[in-house]
Amino acid sequence: MSAIELAVIGGTGLYRLAALQDPEALEGDTPYGRPSGPVRVGRLAGRRVAFLARHGEGHSLPPHRVNYRANLWRLKELGATRVLAVNTVGGITERFGPKVLALPDQLIDYTWGRTSSYWDGEGGDVLHVDFGDPYTPALRREVLAAAAASGTPLVDGGCYGATQGPRLETKAEIARMRRDGCDLVGMTGMPEAGLARELGLDYACLAIVANWAAGCSGDEEITLAEVLANVEVASAHLPALLEALLG
Ligand code: HPA
Repeated sequence: MSAIELAVIGGTGLYRLAALQDPEALEGDTPYGRPSGPVRVGRLAGRRVAFLARHGEGHSLPPHRVNYRANLWRLKELGATRVLAVNTVGGITERFGPKVLALPDQLIDYTWGRTSSYWDGEGGDVLHVDFGDPYTPALRREVLAAAAASGTPLVDGGCYGATQGPRLETKAEIARMRRDGCDLVGMTGMPEAGLARELGLDYACLAIVANWAAGCSGDEEITLAEVLANVEVASAHLPALLEALLG
């Protein structure tokens, strides 16, 4: 069987990869517990591609309950070496309005209480992985080239701030994140990116901006309907982007 060329982790609003041909659902456990659901492995642009819905296929897992360790372990065990993580986010700064697709190059972790390492004192070893560039530069370059080749509008760069959720942020929290240098805010970017680095997986985050973060566009309330509608619009670019990335 040929290798898995790419694993895609889908976020809120992306529970299936419709373009995946002849997908096979692979259920399985890991030493870290159960992943969010089956890994669906099929063909896209003639290559083997894996897809995993981060929140479960019925979106039953909130961000702080996702078993990030099991998800990445399972993808690696199945042979994936490159992961494109799709994350639904709120936009904070000007370039990152609703429906924008972005490829951040930095992150700040505001999450707490999540199991954030495979080196948890269980096996004796402690590992301090380099994380200066949290997203794999070579994979980012490939995604940018694929966006250019497929005519996909993609904002290059930006800092992703990972919050705990599941509630949305206060205006003051977003104002602080803006001062910190965050452009985007989401609830699932960490510990996923750090765990991918620990496993030696290439990893990049494709952020889909669903809404302006709290206080960034007046007093408008953020609704799930708005989030899902904007994710749907922005996700329409995914098939062409993935085809170019795999081609
Ligand atoms: N904040 C945090 N996570 C999000 C948001 C937000 O505004 N929108 C979508 N995911």
